[in-house]
Amino acid sequence: MRIGNINIDRPLCLAPMEDVTDRPFRAICKEQGADLLYTEFTSCEALIRNVKNARRKILVDDNERPIAIQLYGSAEASMERAAALAEKAGADFIDINCGCWVKKVANRGDGAGLLRDLKRFEAVVRSVMRGTKLPVTIKTRLGWDEDSIVILDVARMLEDLGVQALTVHCRTRRQGYTGAADWSWLPRIREASGIQLIANGDIKTPEDVKTCFDLGCDGVMIGRGAIHSPWIFRHARHYLDTGERLPDPGLKRRIEMCIRHLTDSVAFRGAARGVPSFRKHYAGYLKGVRNIANLRKDLMQFTEVEPIVERLWRFYEEYESEDAA
Ligand SMILES: Cc1cc2nc3c(=O)[nH]c(=O)nc-3n(C[C@H](O)[C@H](O)[C@H](O)COP(=O)(O)O)c2cc1C
Repeated sequence: MRIGNINIDRPLCLAPMEDVTDRPFRAICKEQGADLLYTEFTSCEALIRNVKNARRKILVDDNERPIAIQLYGSAEASMERAAALAEKAGADFIDINCGCWVKKVANRGDGAGLLRDLKRFEAVVRSVMRGTKLPVTIKTRLGWDEDSIVILDVARMLEDLGVQALTVHCRTRRQGYTGAADWSWLPRIREASGIQLIANGDIKTPEDVKTCFDLGCDGVMIGRGAIHSPWIFRHARHYLDTGERLPDPGLKRRIEMCIRHLTDSVAFRGAARGVPSFRKHYAGYLKGVRNIANLRKDLMQFTEVEPIVERLWRFYEEYESEDAA
């Protein structure tokens, strides 16, 4: 697959996820084999008003390359200016969010709201292209609801506009996260247009990744599956290359990764914000581990790194000695 000068065979992409895929989490996923990274989505209006949190979201580092900055909005002039700012911030390409389903975004016509107005959708894409010379990609859903699935028209429109890749979360806006992602749309999109296609939605295992490539996709994007298992990228690549499954990393390695991620998060945001915002990640690192109720309760209360590290290793020792008994 090619996006500008980026050339990667069957890329495994880390999905943009607000409050999740910040720099520390992206570093973990990159280390675990993610080929393409995306920032959290950033409002074009906030960016051009120079809002501090928006500026933080578009911070990218050289060792994250290739990386996309993801923008959302529907006002052409703002999107054009935001695209220029994202280019200046060091993005390798710009991704436009046309799939966000939350009311305050979609009902205003941003995100998935664009699926209800393809003329505006087109104008937004054109405005971003005017604002940057970087490659532009789109991430969207199948349509607003099951009665208005427009993805085939969207794919043809984007190909004509010169958009370099299209990521499709195979649900409608109305579905939110209910039901299952319908991957049967992927070969239909592939047939309808020549745009490079990245599959997204409910891809959780190496087998799922292979299925999506077998359906004709050029890339695969993983969101929640990476929160649960950041090592999914490495495992999926191994499976694609060999047809064999790697073993689970095991509790010791999970704890090491968790501590490293926590430490980086605190270095990035400070303890006051970094420790609470990290709490959503424990469930992933401890997924499938037995008897974690007390551990989880403690982890939710600590406000400093040191007691967390101490508690995790104490849990590990108890766990191992139980195993040995
Ligand atoms: C916590 C969270 C935050 C998200 N934030 C974004 C975002 O900023 N931009 C975006 O395009 N999609 C966002 N998404 C959607 C994901 O990128 C992805 O499309 C969706 O979760 C389906 O993929 P999955 O089943 O692999 O998670 C978010 C999803 C989650 C769970």
